[in-house]
Amino acid sequence: MCGIIGYSGPLEARTILLDGLSQLEYRGYDSAGIAYFDSRSQIHVVKKTGKVANLRETFSSISDSSHCGIGHTRWATHGGVSDVNAHPHHAGQVTLIHNGIIENYHSLTQEFQLEASLVSQTDSEVAARLLDIFYEGQPESAIKQLVNRVEGSYAFCIMFNDRPGEIYAVRSVSPLVAAYTRAGALVASDLTALIPYTRNYFVVPEHHIVKLTGYKISICDPDGKQVSPEMMKVNWNTDAAMKNGFPHFMLKEIHEQPEALKNTILPRLTKGIPDFTDDQIPDELFLGCDQIHVIACGTAMHAGMVARSLLEPLLRIPVTVSIASEFRYEEPLIDEKTLVIVISQSGETIDTLAALRLARTCGSRTLAVVNVKGSTIARESDYVLYTHAGPEIAVASTKAYSVQLAALYMVGCRMALVRGRFTGEQASAFLAGLLDVIPAMETMISRKDEEKNLVTHLLSQHDTFFIGRGLDYAFSLEGALKLKEISYIHAEAYAAGELKHGTIALIASGVPVIAIATQEHIFSKTMSNVREVKARGAFVILVTQEHASVDPDLADIHIKIPDLDDRFTVFPIAVVLQLIAYYTSIGKNLDVDQPRNLAKSVTVE
Ligand code: F6R
Repeated sequence: MCGIIGYSGPLEARTILLDGLSQLEYRGYDSAGIAYFDSRSQIHVVKKTGKVANLRETFSSISDSSHCGIGHTRWATHGGVSDVNAHPHHAGQVTLIHNGIIENYHSLTQEFQLEASLVSQTDSEVAARLLDIFYEGQPESAIKQLVNRVEGSYAFCIMFNDRPGEIYAVRSVSPLVAAYTRAGALVASDLTALIPYTRNYFVVPEHHIVKLTGYKISICDPDGKQVSPEMMKVNWNTDAAMKNGFPHFMLKEIHEQPEALKNTILPRLTKGIPDFTDDQIPDELFLGCDQIHVIACGTAMHAGMVARSLLEPLLRIPVTVSIASEFRYEEPLIDEKTLVIVISQSGETIDTLAALRLARTCGSRTLAVVNVKGSTIARESDYVLYTHAGPEIAVASTKAYSVQLAALYMVGCRMALVRGRFTGEQASAFLAGLLDVIPAMETMISRKDEEKNLVTHLLSQHDTFFIGRGLDYAFSLEGALKLKEISYIHAEAYAAGELKHGTIALIASGVPVIAIATQEHIFSKTMSNVREVKARGAFVILVTQEHASVDPDLADIHIKIPDLDDRFTVFPIAVVLQLIAYYTSIGKNLDVDQPRNLAKSVTVE
């Protein structure tokens, strides 16, 4: 949540900040603002509600040059969406941007009698005012005092009136990465803002104070000692964060799935069997557990639901899936014999991070399935299995989901092998089945007009139901989430057999029911449920494998995916469901990539 960027260097700072904010906008887009030193070393603050494009327009007439500044794109938490609540916040000597939540802002306001001076309703302005009180010409000492007083999560980038060319940054929990590049010094809430300038970066260590100037970056630990950063390298390229001719990032990312799967699976195969030696994940991790607990949020949690349906029958050990925001406040029944798998695209989701920390305190061994290299969850987990989807920019997750599934399927295969549930041949046959999904996804992408045409019926609807059993139910959950988040149509996923226990009351003439029936052993059961909704007038969109024989009167629209081993149908179905959501959103003229109220990386509770 909230994108932040700071730059000091020889280039035009406003251009770098605005371009960086456009890259970071998926983190929040309620308002945007920048602050910069002008050629006379005066700080200017410009901020506006709305998107970065709105802010950019303001600058078309300013010609004065600037080489140091900070920028912010906001996802509102404290205080409504208004110009005054937008960042940066200016207080006396201090100009500051913030990502996170200052939990004790109210008591700080009272203690330091700030009420009269506050002009916004934000917790961030309280931090700016407090820092101004502490500031006596020594940035590090003032920041240290601030850090000692604020509670919660934060990433701050700060400029002081009398320190032109300098930016100070500090964080706790909320992410910040930085790099010294040929273009100058940069700090940002995530890598996408840095990749136009460098592949080499470092994660700002928590509670360390980073100082950026046009010619260097220095870092002090909490005791004031200078330290060197641990450099990391990312293999994403600039193209990966551009639309490359696609009208939306979401459509581009749907198309990228087959490639992302290859990048995630192929480097980890030895003689056709998953091998995690290069990931430094020992087989002993898979042998020493008697249960698996999967924890994640949103789409990543839905990948966990699929994993549960796959892994439990495969491994014959209990597999539980928890929503991270619930798990973190529970008293979980996990111990050192539990393998905890956390899943996160961003690697920064605060609830998933807290759940990971709790799992570690319970003695469980943790494996993180993460897309962003060097992210907090990746660094704090005992083991990490990186997915190689490249940057995912659209707020609605697509390719990250598919590669999370691929990684979990590989883990399942390796576990089954080392636990004696698979022979070598069975493991390589399973893996071959996983590789078959790549052409199947390509086929469904090439047939995307089917979804484009079918959504005409959905556009005028208020409610949609997704039904399925077993694995098909697990996929339905993700289909419903995708539709809700970008088309704003209410959608619910139901285990098909559960409909009769109340929900079928909502099925009336024309109500869309998207029924997924790809599992042979329960196919006829699901079809009975389809018959029941059809009898009540539902508009049925049925998704089956090619070979399935279906009474033509049952489905208003029948989408067929290529025949696969039943365990793998989720992959082409994900494409179908993503495309249904995508074209519905387009048909309603909505902002597909940046739907209302959402943000890509949920770094506040
Ligand atoms: C939905 C979506 C979210 C994320 C969730 C977890 O399309 O993207 O539901 O899946 O916020 O995010 P990560 O995977 O970054 O932890």
